[in-house]
Amino acid sequence: MSERSLNADPHLIVGLDVSSRQEAEAIVAELGDAVSFYKIGYQLGFAGGLPLVSELARAGKSVFLDLKLHDIANTVEKGVESVLRLGATMTTVHAYPQVMRAAAKAAEGTDLTVLGVTVLTSLDAGDLADAGYATTDVAALVERRALQARECGLRGLVSSAAEAAHLRGLVGPGMAIVTPGIRPQGSAAGDQKRVVTPADALRSGASHLVVARPIIAAPDRLAAARAIVAEMATA
Ligand code: C5P
Repeated sequence: MSERSLNADPHLIVGLDVSSRQEAEAIVAELGDAVSFYKIGYQLGFAGGLPLVSELARAGKSVFLDLKLHDIANTVEKGVESVLRLGATMTTVHAYPQVMRAAAKAAEGTDLTVLGVTVLTSLDAGDLADAGYATTDVAALVERRALQARECGLRGLVSSAAEAAHLRGLVGPGMAIVTPGIRPQGSAAGDQKRVVTPADALRSGASHLVVARPIIAAPDRLAAARAIVAEMATA
């Protein structure tokens, strides 16, 4: 493996999908310099993991605090201000214009990238109808919200790797496109229905990859992370 492929790739985000701060800290220690960007979501955040955001930031890591905020504008704005104070560099909101404008206002002039979650990948036409939407065209809703995200001043989107190329064409080169559902060649898909390799996701226009189980559940996490970084370098 070349020297370059052993260095952390700032576009690899490792999801700390564990239920205690101790487990998360052990993983961060194990991965060391091989990983520079971590994602903390509900599972760890609500299990005592929020202080880890500042701890990791102080240690020079980037942190994606994935809380998918959705509330009235004032609450979202104040919430994003608090996320900023924790030291996160990336966070998520559901892609409703009011919510996105409030989040963009709070992040303006800072280094915080707010990502819009267009339509959860678990939703299909039937779910939109159930929820009372007038449209049941998921793809059209994704496009509409992606464009609204850009108009509202968000700096990025969360997208399945399968949609990344289309969204990149739609929103242009300026926005971050962060994709989960990544599986290195030959690994188990788990509950992800459509998986894409790291290199293919980057080639389709993703700017950042979120990887959890292929690293967190690997027998040798460091080797798994390094293999993904090496694969990313080929794209
Ligand atoms: O373990 P795995 O690599 O599948 O984890 C992917 C991460 O990305 C998880 O933290 C998961 O919550 C998140 N995610 C996802 N699919 C989405 C949105 C987020 O897997 N559509």
